[in-house]
Amino acid sequence: MKTDRVLEDIKSKIDIVDFISGHVQLKKAGQNWKGLCPFHSEKTPSFTVNQSKQIFHCFGCGVGGDVISFAMKTENLSFNEALTMLAKKAGIPFVMGKIDQKTVQKSEQIRSALSEAANFFVNKLAGSKTAKEYLEERGVNKESLEMFRLGYAPAGWDNLLKHLRNSGFIDQTIKDAGLAVAGTKGLYDMFRERMIFPIMSINCNVVAFGARALDNSLPKYINSPETPVFNKSATLFGLNKAKEEIIKKNNVILVEGYMDVIICYQYGFKNVVAPLGTSLTVGHLQKLRTLTNNTTLIFDGDAAGIAAARRALFLICQNGFQAKVLLLPEKEDPDSYLRKHGGSSFGTLIENSKSIIDFIFSISGSAKTDTIREVLTLLAEIKDILVADEMLTELTNKTRVHESTIRQEFKNISSRRSGISTEKKTTPSQPDSSGISSGNSEEYLLLSAVVAFPEKTDYLLSRLDLNDIKDKTVFSIFQKISALTGEKNPAYILDNADEDERKIITRLSVDPGFDPAHIDRNIEDCLKRIENRKLNRKIRNAEISGDLNLLTALVIEKKKNIKEPVI
Ligand code: UTP
Ligand code: MN
Repeated sequence: MKTDRVLEDIKSKIDIVDFISGHVQLKKAGQNWKGLCPFHSEKTPSFTVNQSKQIFHCFGCGVGGDVISFAMKTENLSFNEALTMLAKKAGIPFVMGKIDQKTVQKSEQIRSALSEAANFFVNKLAGSKTAKEYLEERGVNKESLEMFRLGYAPAGWDNLLKHLRNSGFIDQTIKDAGLAVAGTKGLYDMFRERMIFPIMSINCNVVAFGARALDNSLPKYINSPETPVFNKSATLFGLNKAKEEIIKKNNVILVEGYMDVIICYQYGFKNVVAPLGTSLTVGHLQKLRTLTNNTTLIFDGDAAGIAAARRALFLICQNGFQAKVLLLPEKEDPDSYLRKHGGSSFGTLIENSKSIIDFIFSISGSAKTDTIREVLTLLAEIKDILVADEMLTELTNKTRVHESTIRQEFKNISSRRSGISTEKKTTPSQPDSSGISSGNSEEYLLLSAVVAFPEKTDYLLSRLDLNDIKDKTVFSIFQKISALTGEKNPAYILDNADEDERKIITRLSVDPGFDPAHIDRNIEDCLKRIENRKLNRKIRNAEISGDLNLLTALVIEKKKNIKEPVI
């Protein structure tokens, strides 16, 4: 099937609001749907989706597009990969053109090898008494085991390697997928005699593995290396399972380990995820931002846990997230705690988890003033002044230090931070102007008219001399539209639009900027304005060159044009 047809089919079968809702919490707002932008940090929703146009646009950062570009951006896919993914989702047969196949093939093969490996490990678990006993001992029930597709890599150097080769995978793919390593005698299995925790993308594709030793041997865990399909610092274990519950609860529980996620889930705490043995990163928060910005951080109550919590809180504050913190008793993690004390006890702990301020006070061994300063330093990271303000009030109430003193010290600390911080604080997010200015507003209005009413494009193009368009981007958009062979719908050029062009089209799609009831009148007015603009230019030139005859003719023409004031 041709790409254009596939595009059309995909868009007719997959509703952009449905699709984006899987990633962003959307609320109906007039004609549009609104939510927090997944592509930049914001507190008030400027990410807008228009269902009838099947287009999204963010007024905060200017990004926009259709369902394909959304999939590309959120899943880190090439155009063709996104097309393939969506076609599959929509049940449309689609074979890609030869040119793109190579690049996509590599990732596809890696994904497919990983998926085959996951099946292999699952089968091996079913056949291994030792492995099953291990999980049983750790309290993992059958349901969780299946839910998380846990597996087992048997002892030996080439079990998986042989299996994958027999299944038709070439060595290069097996190696690129991080499933085998090259030794002096050739490739050998990366994971041997270990429990296997498959790590999945938000779409439930296996992208990597974590593998735990069954005994105390070190390293305790071995993880897949980074590959074209696996970016460790932006992947969260359990996110594919947790995403719905995160949206529902508008909160995500962050724990440290694979087992913690599995056992939490098993005990009914399903909005839980874990970074993969790294501390929290911006990449992780980026993945969560679309679902919620409320976090519950759970750490072990030892020194390492406290240090990790402090680090995480900085990141949380810097990135517009909110947090509650729960320090478990020393040497306990959610897994061990739950199994010892049960779900309701754990639930109570979560309910009583501490605010950021209470947490800092609870761990601080320093004098009150130093602790206040530590809190203020953290609060200085918060970009949203309203949130920061609320927390300053909390701090005042807690410490009983005079509010003005606290606020003065906050100012001192804030201004000591890098110069950009104060500026950031007062300007939450720059609304995008998309280049629209009073000098060229009629061009935008015309473009907006055809975005809203594609059926008017032919008429408009017949009346408009493209050379009269001043704005470079509007010009190139109109040029691309007029080059379309079939129906001249601005949405059809999105896939071959550049950043600027896309920004304008998507913005006008969600915010037409005119009253549809007066569309025809608007179009006429705009055309007239552009005509007048051209005349004025000609008149100026005639004045400069002193061509009186021409000048008179032009002025007469202009007078004819101004029958009524425009807009
Ligand atoms: P922990 O050492 O707390 O292990 O590491 P755990 O998750 O509680 O595992 P169990 O309960 O002993 O089986 C927390 C996380 O850090 C990563 C893993 O993701 C682990 O789940 N980690 C830990 C590694 O990647 N490598 C290691 O060697 C250790
Ligand atoms: Mn543990």
